[in-house]
Amino acid sequence: MTKKIGILTSGGDCAGLNAVIRAVVHSAHHKGWETIGILDGTAGLLKEEPDARVLTPHEFDGTVMRMGGTILGTTNKGDPFHFPMPDGTFKDRTDEIIANYEKLGLDAVIGIGGDGSHAILRKLAQAGGVPMVGIPKTIDNDIGETETSVGFDTAVSVATEALDRLQPTAASHDRVMILEVMGRDAGHIALTTGIAGGADVILLPELKYSLEKVAEKIQKVKEQGRNFALVVVSEAVTKPDGEPVWVTHTDGQKRYGGIGNYLGEQISQMTGSEARVTVLGHVQRGAQPTYNDRLVASTFGVKAVQLIEEGKFDRMVAWKNREVVDVAIEDAIAAYQAVDPEDTLVKTARGLGISLGD
Ligand code: F6P
Repeated sequence: MTKKIGILTSGGDCAGLNAVIRAVVHSAHHKGWETIGILDGTAGLLKEEPDARVLTPHEFDGTVMRMGGTILGTTNKGDPFHFPMPDGTFKDRTDEIIANYEKLGLDAVIGIGGDGSHAILRKLAQAGGVPMVGIPKTIDNDIGETETSVGFDTAVSVATEALDRLQPTAASHDRVMILEVMGRDAGHIALTTGIAGGADVILLPELKYSLEKVAEKIQKVKEQGRNFALVVVSEAVTKPDGEPVWVTHTDGQKRYGGIGNYLGEQISQMTGSEARVTVLGHVQRGAQPTYNDRLVASTFGVKAVQLIEEGKFDRMVAWKNREVVDVAIEDAIAAYQAVDPEDTLVKTARGLGISLGD
């Protein structure tokens, strides 16, 4: 039976989203179904008429899957259940979204998002919207019940390349180079990048550290005759007393940023080494997706369409043991995935002699 499925990207963008959209459109087309792209995440459903358009397979024949970002647009602001209105009040806008879902006449919707977006989209589906299937994406790789999420591999590749570029300049100037990477509350990017890029110190929000231990490691590197050191720190790492390092943006929201500079000053003072800080920021999100993110994206897209065909809803596609599977969205949201101190990569870092500051 012909179906009409909707697709939207929600939350922060990342590399590989266009490859997911392409996979869904191609797979649905193969079954004779139509795909409707909803623009700007839930913001596209908060207009008087839904902001959406038909997606055709030929749009995806060329460059799109190779591009970072999302051709559909996205938003990481404005919880529709508690939406900030211009007059300063908050409004539950569920009914407007459901009315727009109905106008589109969708049989199902595929939501591509992180844990926050999955929670919102699931609640909307339950409130009377259309049945939903989720696809995990986040550079932070912190969604539970899946070993990887779309965007993580590319973010790590970008960050590793940054370390590759920092190393020769560090060696040329006898410097300690500090690379601050993203990861809102989870240190997966920092840990993976630090190992792949040959860091001497990796600091994660999941492990307490002391400045003395960090300084000790840098002194040791120097004593052993090396004239540079590389430090990777996750943006969510706090000062040793637990104080978070934030930046308050014009929208009033606090976002992590600045721990690298704090560390740079402390390390310089404690070791006498010259330190320089690179804050990688959104560069990690906007890159061309790696082959691996394109593969995961393609696999997830095809599986999501298959779930709709089987009538399996309220499920999120997931990657486990080299296989694409599906899990309950509820379980994925509940099982937030921080770095486990007993994780293989934590043990690998320690085995390599990398200091985790503890
Ligand atoms: O969750 C993804 C992420 O890139 C985090 O790693 C980062 O802290 C945050 O989003 C940045 O958000 P924004 O794009 O709103 O600055």
